[in-house]
Amino acid sequence: MRVLSGIQPTGRFHWGNYFGAIRQYIALQGDPDKAFYFIANLHALTTVRDRELLRQYTLDAAIDLLALGLDPDRATLFVQSDVPQVCELTWLLMTGAPMGLLERCHAYKDKVAKGLSADAGLFAYPVLMAADILAYDSDLVPVGEDQVQHIEVCRDLAGSFNHEFGETFVLPRAQVLDTSARVPGLDGEKMSKSYQNTIEVFEEPASIRKKVMRITTDSRPMEQPKAPETDHLFQLYSLFASPAQRDEMAARYRRGGFGYGEVKKELAVLAEGFFAEARQKRKELEARPERVREILGDGGARARKKAAEVLLRAQEACGVQSIAAVRVA
Ligand code: ADP
Ligand code: TRP
Repeated sequence: MRVLSGIQPTGRFHWGNYFGAIRQYIALQGDPDKAFYFIANLHALTTVRDRELLRQYTLDAAIDLLALGLDPDRATLFVQSDVPQVCELTWLLMTGAPMGLLERCHAYKDKVAKGLSADAGLFAYPVLMAADILAYDSDLVPVGEDQVQHIEVCRDLAGSFNHEFGETFVLPRAQVLDTSARVPGLDGEKMSKSYQNTIEVFEEPASIRKKVMRITTDSRPMEQPKAPETDHLFQLYSLFASPAQRDEMAARYRRGGFGYGEVKKELAVLAEGFFAEARQKRKELEARPERVREILGDGGARARKKAAEVLLRAQEACGVQSIAAVRVA
């Protein structure tokens, strides 16, 4: 069984990305042939239109993932654009993709609904994503709730291709990531780059402390008992605390007579400790960019080998394999 997922390099990873996605990818790794993770730079190109920034985010994403525990001996890590077979496969799938199906996909639909003009890349985004998944005969795709629709599209496209041309693709299954790990941002809304309410995993500790102190809280007097479950500061604290620390903090909330400032200070200390080892590892990796490139090189080679096999299978199924005397490489 092969697990595959992709993450877009549209900025530096924040606590939401870590607890909502990355931590779970890392937990699913084991055998490098069975766990494929990639940095979706072609998808990111639908939003990041600055060459230097996209290159930097892509490299940073690789370093961040490795620092956070993605292990090249237990997973294959690569960059999406290092596997050109995926783009060829995208075309094969595009020819059978109903317009109506893609018109219903939320990334495109939401943009059009806001009166913004969308490009063909955004429209075809789910087809590229389907090719990403099908190219590696992936069985299981861990994703956030927002991506489930795209996995359904992938299954539809693969199913109709198989129906039309014979069994070619493995139909994948979505594994919805633990939604209880929905991380609130500084303002209590879902933490997201788009809301500018994030704390990045590898932000400078001083900057993290400053942001933590800015987390919004209610204005009830200190003496008054508070319900911990509904408080986003408590939810953030819980991500980093041990069960005993969490219980103790919950009891303090219920008793009242404490200030949010204390909670914030403790949260900042816990968060710093939680990522301390990863931060150290990141420094080491940053000093050895050639090692990071080597890991991505090995991962890309492994991914291309698998994708080439699946692409040939698909080309043969629909009759576009090369008929030249020497196959064009
Ligand atoms: P952003 O909303 O900051 O642009 P992305 O959409 O690039 O983040 O997120 C990549 C993945 O990280 C998502 O598919 C989701 O699984 C996870 N994720 C993002 N934000 C959160 C959050 N606040 N809580 C839990 N998971 C999140
Ligand atoms: N669209 C996904 C996101 O924004 C990223 C992605 C691209 C992906 N290709 C994929 C995820 C294939 C899973 C499988 O989060």
